[in-house]
Amino acid sequence: MSNGLKVSEIYNEKPEMVSSDCLIVGVYQGEEKDLNIFRFLDPSTLKHFSRLIRESEISGSSEISTMVYTLGHAVPTRILFAGLGLKSLLGPDGLRNIMAKCFRKCRELKLKKISIDLDSFCSESIGPLETAECLTSSAIMGLYVYDDFKTDKLTGFPEDIRLVCSGQFPMEKAFGDAIRKGNIIADSVNLARDLANAPANYMTPTKLSEVALQLAEGSSLGVEILEEEDMKKLSMGALVGVSKGSVEPAKLICLTHKGSLDQPDNNLALIGKGITFDSGGLNLKSALGMRNMKGDMAVGAAVMGAMKAIHALNLKVNVMGLIPATENMPGNEAQRPGDIVRAMNSVTIEIDNTDAEGRLVLADALCFAEQKGFTRIIDVATLTGAVRTALGDKYIGIFGNDPVFTSEVLKAGNCQGEKMWELPTDHGYLEELNSDVADIKNSGGPSAGAITGAMFIGKFADKASWVHLDIAAVSRVMSVGGYQVKGATGVGVRSLIYICELRSN
Ligand code: BES
Ligand code: MN
Ligand code: ZN
Repeated sequence: MSNGLKVSEIYNEKPEMVSSDCLIVGVYQGEEKDLNIFRFLDPSTLKHFSRLIRESEISGSSEISTMVYTLGHAVPTRILFAGLGLKSLLGPDGLRNIMAKCFRKCRELKLKKISIDLDSFCSESIGPLETAECLTSSAIMGLYVYDDFKTDKLTGFPEDIRLVCSGQFPMEKAFGDAIRKGNIIADSVNLARDLANAPANYMTPTKLSEVALQLAEGSSLGVEILEEEDMKKLSMGALVGVSKGSVEPAKLICLTHKGSLDQPDNNLALIGKGITFDSGGLNLKSALGMRNMKGDMAVGAAVMGAMKAIHALNLKVNVMGLIPATENMPGNEAQRPGDIVRAMNSVTIEIDNTDAEGRLVLADALCFAEQKGFTRIIDVATLTGAVRTALGDKYIGIFGNDPVFTSEVLKAGNCQGEKMWELPTDHGYLEELNSDVADIKNSGGPSAGAITGAMFIGKFADKASWVHLDIAAVSRVMSVGGYQVKGATGVGVRSLIYICELRSN
């Protein structure tokens, strides 16, 4: 579970004067000798540190971090020198990655009190406020573990992480706010990770809807859960069709944040695929293909996390988070290949492959969002294995029907280290989805699977500006690396929050 860690601040204090088990100092390559903290050491200790620099024990080379014991010569018990590489090359995401490792190193040593020398990390490209936010989110994301179902929990978590600002820039409130924001965003990422790491027998559509209700409880975040009966009334044949093979009732989770009441045009619908388990349906997946399909609601979870943060940050934009949640199972009543369903906008769909279920539930969600008056819609989905073939596991596939909106989302993603690469939505690809018996079929041929998947969804965007993100290849990682730990990544959360932040006015 997200561990409840919070980063806090100390303002107008010299980092080397704050007592802690470890002070973390950033070291840029070539600037080893100029570290501020050296100015306050007595000559003999300084000589000792100079030697460590000469011998490259303390180094600004990226990825080299060295823990030095101060043995009574300085207030902090240890100093961890974190090599950051060349100043001109380090961006916010790189900083988060390096620092997450440092925080984990502190956890391994079971250090309780950690202080961080904020000034040492700042650069022209990462200003003090961004640095504060980055370091905060890096700690919270990097120290994440999912051990809800483990009897022996990981121990040694720091109890007190403080960012120390010597007061060189005179914005105490802004500094505190940046840290608060880092905490909120990272907590939301960890919430999304928790939900996606949870097993599918536990994280059912019903459970997911309960989490949404809890999020909204006692706050002004609006919540509405549509039941299968409601979906039928709304003619959501595509969504209902997917849920037919499962004994778990489907839920359409709808969270609303009204942050800009006087500007209804400033609206954004965020739709996250919420398949709590994707067996493939009657087009059953292989054992290997099914292994991680509890995570097929990872972006439903991401939308939930993003909504939590958007609300907590009180962003001035009207946002609806929409999560069509259901299992895709091959039960007795499951839909069959060849079945025809009718989506909310009356388009008939031939089920070519029951394993192409994500686009079906998204189709009805998209219609619903437009019916509610949203003119800007982003859908995010673990949609296709094919996106990995196209882009590997480094980039999210992005598609859209409005170049201006698409590039806005793409830039936001790239700023947050959730890198996106645009793929075409040429109408020629739609031929792949021609059906002999219905308006469209739900899967195309063997090539360009990520594109035909996206184009299918695009068919259900009418007047709205629409963007589709296929995050199937980046929704989980197999090993720890930087601020990502093995399992669900929570990818999507930070981009979605940032897009809303950019639209906040
Ligand atoms: N949930 C899967 C896509 C997926 C695959 C996500 C691997 C994460 C990792 C999706 O519902 C699916 O099954 N897609 C099919 C589409 C095909 C039947 C047109 C696929 O990619 O094979
Ligand atoms: Mn599937
Ligand atoms: Zn799926």
